[in-house]
Amino acid sequence: MDIAHAADWTIPQGWQHYTAAEHAVWTTLFERQAALLPGRACREFLAGLKALDISAGIPDFELMSERLFGLTGWRVVAVPGLVPEDVFFEHLANRRFPAGNFIRRPDQLDYLEEPDVFHDVFGHVPMLTDPVFADYMQAYGQGGRRALQLGRLGNLARLYWYTVEFGLLRTDAGLRIYGAGIVSSRSESVFALDDPSPNRLGFSLRRVLRTPYRIDDFQQNYFVIDSLPALLDETVNTDFAPLYAELAALPDIPISAIEPTDLVFTRGTQSYAASH
Ligand code: PHE
Ligand code: FE
Repeated sequence: MDIAHAADWTIPQGWQHYTAAEHAVWTTLFERQAALLPGRACREFLAGLKALDISAGIPDFELMSERLFGLTGWRVVAVPGLVPEDVFFEHLANRRFPAGNFIRRPDQLDYLEEPDVFHDVFGHVPMLTDPVFADYMQAYGQGGRRALQLGRLGNLARLYWYTVEFGLLRTDAGLRIYGAGIVSSRSESVFALDDPSPNRLGFSLRRVLRTPYRIDDFQQNYFVIDSLPALLDETVNTDFAPLYAELAALPDIPISAIEPTDLVFTRGTQSYAASH
């Protein structure tokens, strides 16, 4: 996009310029997801959603950031859309979440290629109210800078995809969603938990770094973490440099394959992927 932006790609959100129709798109999406997610999203997400108080129209990032900063020291900054990887990592490493300021059109409620303010804010910001997840996202930004230097971003991006965007969490009450790409999508909020098609496998760092993903349709694999502290602990306390070196010599795992060492929650039929 050709909007003038600062060196860190931030722009004013321009909250006063949203139209009533744009606020209405937010509210429609919000109400649909808020009704669907209890019993599906994890308690950390639902608590964050409540704490942020963002049900009525597109949130003003300044006001939302004050609340978020008080909880975990994060802020949300506006950007025109996707930003270069190094810029993205720099923001995360400084506890700033870059969010697109535009909203999808009313005919795009169910699918959109580029992340908009609903995906970025509704999907991502509630989890940033959780202190453990907040630390994970900052560490990911630091890890991203390092992966760029080491030329292994292809591997690290899979970690983001299978946790931040499409992660599931094991709880006493059953599997729950914490991934932003799932909670911001009505159809995937159901598919990710209930459909017989995808594999649902225990999270393993090495395994995830070797597994390709789909960007344009429902996932063929979801990885289940034991807890948010376990995810933070494993990623922060592992030096990825030797891991990247090791992975460079190993082939990727075919997208729907199940490995003998996988902890299998669901052995997917892959019927959805086979017919799309
Ligand atoms: N510990 C990782 C490294 O050495 C950084 C990282 C932390 C990556 C958390 C992802 C998530 O590169
Ligand atoms: Fe996202």
